[in-house]
Amino acid sequence: MPATLIDGKAIAEQINAETIVEIARLKNQCGVTPGLAVVLVGENPASVTYVSMKDKVCARLGMHSERVSLPATTRESELLANINNLNLKQEIHGILVQSPLPPQISEEKVFAAVSPAKDVDGFHPLNVGKLANGDPTGFVPCTPAGVHELLIRSGVRIDGAHVVVLGRSRIVGRPLSLILSQKAAHANATVTVCHSRSRNLAEICRSADVLIAAIGVPGFVKADMVRDGAVVIDVGVNRLEDKTSDKGYRIVGDVDFDAVSQRALLITPVPGGVGPMTIAMLMHNTVRAARMQHGAS
Ligand code: GUN
Repeated sequence: MPATLIDGKAIAEQINAETIVEIARLKNQCGVTPGLAVVLVGENPASVTYVSMKDKVCARLGMHSERVSLPATTRESELLANINNLNLKQEIHGILVQSPLPPQISEEKVFAAVSPAKDVDGFHPLNVGKLANGDPTGFVPCTPAGVHELLIRSGVRIDGAHVVVLGRSRIVGRPLSLILSQKAAHANATVTVCHSRSRNLAEICRSADVLIAAIGVPGFVKADMVRDGAVVIDVGVNRLEDKTSDKGYRIVGDVDFDAVSQRALLITPVPGGVGPMTIAMLMHNTVRAARMQHGAS
C-alpha cells in the first residue's frame, strides 16, 4: 500500500493558528507586537525566496518584520555592526541571519554576535550548548524543531525508535540528533547520524524506523534503502533545472519520492512537507522571545 502523506502545510497552519492566539495574548498583556529582523547578505536565489516567505508569514500572523538587505561585498565588521543595532532595538525580539554568508564573512562570528535572547535560529553557542545539555530554556533551530513537531503531530512513536539522520549539518542533522535522543517526552530515540564518510549507509538506513534525509542530494534515498513501513522525512530542498516549468526549475527533495512512497508508511512531500514547518517554528520562537524579553508568562 502506498504511504500516507504527512501534510506539513496543514500542520504548519495549526501551529500558526496557535501562534496567532499567543500574539493576541502578548498584545493584551503587555501591549507588545513581536518583531522579527531578517538579515540577508547577497542575493542567493534560494535565500531570497526563503526570506520573502518569512516576511509574508510575519505579516499574515500580525507580527512586525524588518528586512536588512546588504550587498554580497559587505565586510564582516559592517554586518556585525548591523547585528549590534538589531540587538539594541526594542521592537525587534528575534534576529535571523540567513545562511549561507559570502566567503569573506565568518558564520561562527556572526552567529555568536546575535544576542542569545534574540537568537530565534538557535545558532548562538549558548543556545547550541543548552540544547546539548537538555536545558529547555534555549532556542532550538527551526528546521529540526519543525521535523520534531511534524513527527509528534503525525502520531509517530519516537520513544525507543531507531531514527537514522542522514546529514550532520549545524542547521539540521546535528541539532536533530540531539533533540530526538534527549531524555524527554516525545524523544528517547536511538539516533544514528550518517554522513558522506559513513560505511554501509544503505544497510543502516534499512534498519531505521524513522529515516530523515538532510544531505542536499536530489533523490539520494532509494526504495532499497527503506524498510517496509518506515516513516520517511525529507528535509532536502534541491533546485533542478526544468525548462517546462514557468520558473525554469523545480524543487525536489533528497528522497526518490515515487519509489520510496511504495515502501514507507508515512512520508513528507517536497514541497509542502518540512518547509512550511520551518517558518512556523521561526514565528513560534519569535513570539516566545518577545514573551521572555517582556517577562510575560
Ligand atoms: N539557510 C537554510 N536554512 C536556514 C535556517 O534555518 N536559518 C538560517 N539562518 N539560514 C538558513
